[in-house]
Amino acid sequence: MEVVILPDGDAVADHAARLVAELVRSRPDAVLGVATGSSPVGIYRRLAAAVDAGELSFARAAAFALDEYAGLPPEDPHSYAAYIAGHVTGPLGLDPARVHVPDGNAADLAAAGAAYEAAIAGAGGVDLQILGIGANGHIGFNEPSSSFASRTRVKALTRQTREDNARFFGSLADVPTHCLTQGLGTIMDARRIVLVAQGSHKAAAVAGAAEGPVTAMCPASVLQFHPDAVLVVDEAAAAQLTLTDYYRTAYEADHAKRGTHGFPPQ
Ligand code: F6R
Repeated sequence: MEVVILPDGDAVADHAARLVAELVRSRPDAVLGVATGSSPVGIYRRLAAAVDAGELSFARAAAFALDEYAGLPPEDPHSYAAYIAGHVTGPLGLDPARVHVPDGNAADLAAAGAAYEAAIAGAGGVDLQILGIGANGHIGFNEPSSSFASRTRVKALTRQTREDNARFFGSLADVPTHCLTQGLGTIMDARRIVLVAQGSHKAAAVAGAAEGPVTAMCPASVLQFHPDAVLVVDEAAAAQLTLTDYYRTAYEADHAKRGTHGFPPQ
């Protein structure tokens, strides 16, 4: 696992956007895994600006969202389908026919989960998965105690996650209790993982993911088994890491000195 510690959220978004842009330039038909929530917003903004400037094209790319609330139709402004349409599909110029979000409004959610797995496999798998991380260490909506072998399925949301996400809804009571989420096994199949975290409220989760024991109590710790996972975090989110000197030295050697950091790529 590579851990990149950068001064602030802007630098985190710059670095992560660069990793996505480099992939799409080398492989225009790349399959992206896209997270929702606050953490990746800066990435999408930078990529959209590069598209607007004619420096990058996602016209041939495909995207799969991580998760969707159960019971919300895509027209609901709180749905992740609406988020992906507003932050990803439109701004990046993706073909809507190649953008997929789990059908959290399906009558048969188990069948919808199986169909989502089949669609990812049919697209050839995910080349690069963008992830955020919950304060409790969840990735996707794989809450603590999730199976490392899990596939796309219905999960109950923890109270903490519902409270954390109440800011997007009118009140806690309006936050759905369940979701349809890619499993940890699904996420681990992505060929590359780029997880971004900003802020002190993510510090414990980031430390657990990168340095803690691999445990279902911190689902993101499964990424320690991934052969190509990068954690891009700001100073506040890095505050509980212990090997910070090592990560900084490795980053300087691998990126900063060669100029392979920041956005846009040269
Ligand atoms: C989003 C997702 C979640 C979020 C996590 C962090 O699709 O699956 O794992 O990445 O809850 O959310 P934010 O970025 O809003 O802090």
